This record gives sequence, C-alpha cells and structure tokens, in this order.
Amino acid sequence: MSKTVTLTIDGQTLTVPAGYSIWEAAHQVGINIPNLCHHPALRPEGSCRVCVVKVKGARNLSASCVTKVAEGMEVSTHTPEVLAVRKNIVELLLANHPRDCLSCARSGNCELQKIASDMGIRKIPYNYNRPPMKKDEGNPSITRDPAKCILCGRCVRMCSEVQGIGVYGFTWRGINSRVSPAFDLPLDKATCTYCGQCAKVCPTGAITIHNDTDKVWAALRDPEKIVMVQTAPSVRVGLSEALGGKPGDIVTGKMVAALRQLGFDKVFDTNWSADLTIMEEGTEFIHRLKDGGVMPMITSCSPGWVNYMEMFYPELIPHFSTAKSPQAMFGTMLKTYYAQKMNIDPAKIVSVSIMPCTAKKFEAQRPELSASGFRDVDVVLTTVELGQMIREAGLNFQALPDEQFDPLMGVGSGAGTIFGTTGGVMEAAVRTAYELLTGKGLDPLELAPVRGMEGIKEATLTIGKTRVKVAVAHNLANARKVCEAIKAGNPHGWHFIEIMACPGGCINGGGQPISLEMDTPVKRQEALYTDDRNLPIRKSHENPEVQALYREFLGEPNGHKAHQLLHTHYREQIRG
Ligand code: FES
Repeated sequence: MSKTVTLTIDGQTLTVPAGYSIWEAAHQVGINIPNLCHHPALRPEGSCRVCVVKVKGARNLSASCVTKVAEGMEVSTHTPEVLAVRKNIVELLLANHPRDCLSCARSGNCELQKIASDMGIRKIPYNYNRPPMKKDEGNPSITRDPAKCILCGRCVRMCSEVQGIGVYGFTWRGINSRVSPAFDLPLDKATCTYCGQCAKVCPTGAITIHNDTDKVWAALRDPEKIVMVQTAPSVRVGLSEALGGKPGDIVTGKMVAALRQLGFDKVFDTNWSADLTIMEEGTEFIHRLKDGGVMPMITSCSPGWVNYMEMFYPELIPHFSTAKSPQAMFGTMLKTYYAQKMNIDPAKIVSVSIMPCTAKKFEAQRPELSASGFRDVDVVLTTVELGQMIREAGLNFQALPDEQFDPLMGVGSGAGTIFGTTGGVMEAAVRTAYELLTGKGLDPLELAPVRGMEGIKEATLTIGKTRVKVAVAHNLANARKVCEAIKAGNPHGWHFIEIMACPGGCINGGGQPISLEMDTPVKRQEALYTDDRNLPIRKSHENPEVQALYREFLGEPNGHKAHQLLHTHYREQIRG
C-alpha cells in the first residue's frame, strides 16, 4: 500500500502521508478549516461538525477531522453550502451559550468567539433557553462553568485518554446535557489532580484556571507588605506567548523588569530552589542507594503527580522523595533565611510564585507546607495570569530592558532551568549525584536518553562501581504504567524515577499559554536546553548562592535543619 496519498484541496494538489485526515492535510498547506471538537493533541471524534467540507462524489458533507484522505480525492473547503452549514452549526451553539463574553475569562482567546467572528455572525437567530447550571469554584486551581460547555468532549478525551484518569464524562440528556464528574461532584470531591490540562484544551470559558491576580494587586498596594516573587523555569519560555510573542522566546530579563515595574519589592528565581531541591533530593537518593532505603526513589516536585500518587497509589508513598518542591522550598527559605539575613519580619512578607502549573495553587494551600510558622507560598499565579497583569498595567513588554534577579536567591544553574521540561529533574540530579559520588564531572554533561518527548525514557549509568538505572515519565497515563511496574516488583530494575503530571513537563503545564500548535511544547523545551547551555553554571552543587545558604544557615544537605525546613510528608487522599 502506498505510504502517501495525492489529493486536491481547493484546486491545490498535495501529497500527504496515507492515514492523514482531510483537516490535517489542509492544515499542512496552510488552509484553515475551522474546528471545535478537534484538537491536534487528541484523538479526533467528529462530533461538532464545524469542520465540514465538500468531497466530490460524497452524498453528504464530510467532517474533515475524521475523514481520511484518499487517492485522487477532490475537496472543497468553502463552497456556499459548506459555509452556510458551518454558520448554522455555530449559531446553534451560540444559542445555548451565555452572552457574557466581555467578562469571560477566555474573552479574546475563546475559540468559539473567534469562529463566530470569522464567520461574520453578528446576531444569534435563536433564543437562549438552557436551564441554569451551577459553577464549580470550590477548589483553588480550576473553575468549571457548565453553562459555557459546548459538549465538544476535548476535556473528556484529555482527562481519560492522555492523563488516564477519566474525571469527566457526558452527563444528563437533551438541553440539560453537560460534561461533569460522576454524580455531578465538584472537582475537589472527584479524583481531579488539578493538572489543568482540561482547561488547556477547552475551547471556551467552560473550564478555566482560578484567577488570583486581585490578591496580588491588593498585596502590591498595601504599604505594610513586602511582596516578593519567585519565577519558575518554564515561565521564562512561555510568558512571551501570553504577550503576543513566539513559542520558545526566552524572556528572562524582560520578565524580571516587568515584575519590578508591577511593584514587586524583590524578584527571585525558582531555578535557585531547583538547585536546592537537587542538593536535598540528590543527597537523599545517595543515602538510599548506599544504605538500602526504599527503591526506586521517585521525584515529588510535580504537584499534579503528588495528588495522583496520593489518590491512586498511596501504597507507593514510601518511594517518594521527601524533598519539598522548588516552589515550597523557596517559600520556606524566603521567610526564614532571607528574612533573617535582611532583618525583615516574616509576617510582613507576601510570598508570590509565578508558575506554569495549576496544581501549584493547590500545593500552596497544603497545611504541611508551613514549616517556618508561616505559609511557604501565599499566592500562586500562572504564566497566563502574569501576562494579564502586564497587560493590565499597560507595560510595553517587548520594549523593557533586560534586568537581573535580586541577589541571595536569584542565581540559578542550567540544571535548575531544565527542571521545566520532562527529563530535566533527572538530568539535573544525575549531574550532581554522579559528581558527588565519583568526584568527577559527568561527561558528556547532557543526558541525551532522558531528553525529548518520548512518554517513558530510560538511561543506565555506571556511577563508581554501581550501575544505576533511571527512568523518566510524563503525563499521568504513563505515570500509571510506571506505578504498575513498581507494584509488579520493578522488573526494569529502576533506581530513580522522575514523573511529571503534564505532557512534556512544566513547559506544557496547565498555567502556560494555550496553543493549538503541536510543536509549541518542543519549542519551549528547546529554549530551556538553550538557556541551560548559555548559563555560566550548569550544575546545582556549583550554585554559589546555594553553597552560601548551606554554609551560613542550613548546615549539611539532609541535615537536621534542612530536614525540618525542606522536607515534607504525604498522605492518602480519599475523595468521592
Ligand atoms: Fe471536526 Fe468537530 S472539528 S467535527
């Protein structure tokens, strides 16, 4: 069978791989066919019919997202009949949609709004008669407004097929139809990990991220407060997109300048505490390896993954590293080490973090993350929320000068920066563990087998006399495979495992700008690798500010004080 197919679309002849849908073929040559239920990261379903096209010889119009290309096929994407049918479908969707676009969280980047605008719909010829539906706002991460659901099923497929959880399903019938957790449970009662991937694929304002910008504005306006901010590795390669830039732009310096312009008193780098995490987690791993601790050890810095483990595999909790996440470590050090050093009352500090992650909002509220006597992190904003604040303030982001992070907690290594991508935590840990165990630097420094977007990656290293096998998994369906393998006796012989809840890791977290382009996460990943190569320090243990922290405040990694402040515990979560 031929591996390619030649067809014409709107008179243009093209050859594409056999098995492509008409929509994919058209997309490849830049022909835009509107789509709503289809998303390039998900299995096509063909339910909304917005993408219909005319295929010569076919009795009915065909949904281009689920119709495969065929040799000699002739497709027309914008005949009068096609345009009229599409328009009528969208008018019917709008008839059942609330009319509060101006104040909707997705205003300006709602796919339904854009399609309606592109189609020139200026009035809706049908009455709104959907019954009232209750919003779900009872958790810190994700807000659901079922009234805005267009039943495209993207969130259902994302949660069940990519993340392997299946929180959402179609419920009720007819005009009452909606997507919701079983028994209409709110998300905080369902088995939601708060990864936010559902919100990233939702085309409307039906699933959005909880917005905390008002809390930050209030803190910034309060003269009694000292507002300090940390910025996660992936924010520097995602923020540009929230402000009209390209995927993969590295905007660290402009981001720092923007945060100062917004009024933050100090601007710090979560890469600093990523390096600190490596010191604690790497030391913990070495102890377990040498002293026969619970193996394999699993990373715990992805809060969506932590939630997943606590809900679905609580029996594996002893495998978790007890090291807090970089966000939480940073918050603790801000209100202890930094406050002490700068003679600041920690009660006056408002600790804000900018994260690519929606589950971080939940993590920040965990009662155990307050070892200093104060909450580690007071407010978590996503990359998208920071973009909103910058637009609200009217800053010309592209014209801002590049500025440096503030000292003491502002230096991060290349190892810290690659925390933002799948494989990055493992690579950073190996760079340090190898050198601490052998006294020699890893050569080559970059651990190629754990790079890229493969779902589960492995690498084997000889460290001294020990052969160490590491594994890396991203997205929760792959996490489940890893957990099952551990329960089955760890047949792969893994010693150390990194797991990230989101596909691709934090670069593609639920709080990053929404993109419909499949290569966007790869561009962000490449940007972090570039950032690593460009930084003067590429190993966590060589970070001079982290070295000073141990020397002046913490003592030894995994020592008593470090354990008290930088480690945590996990517990089974029972929901439902
Ligand atoms: Fe093709 Fe919905 S986008 S049927």
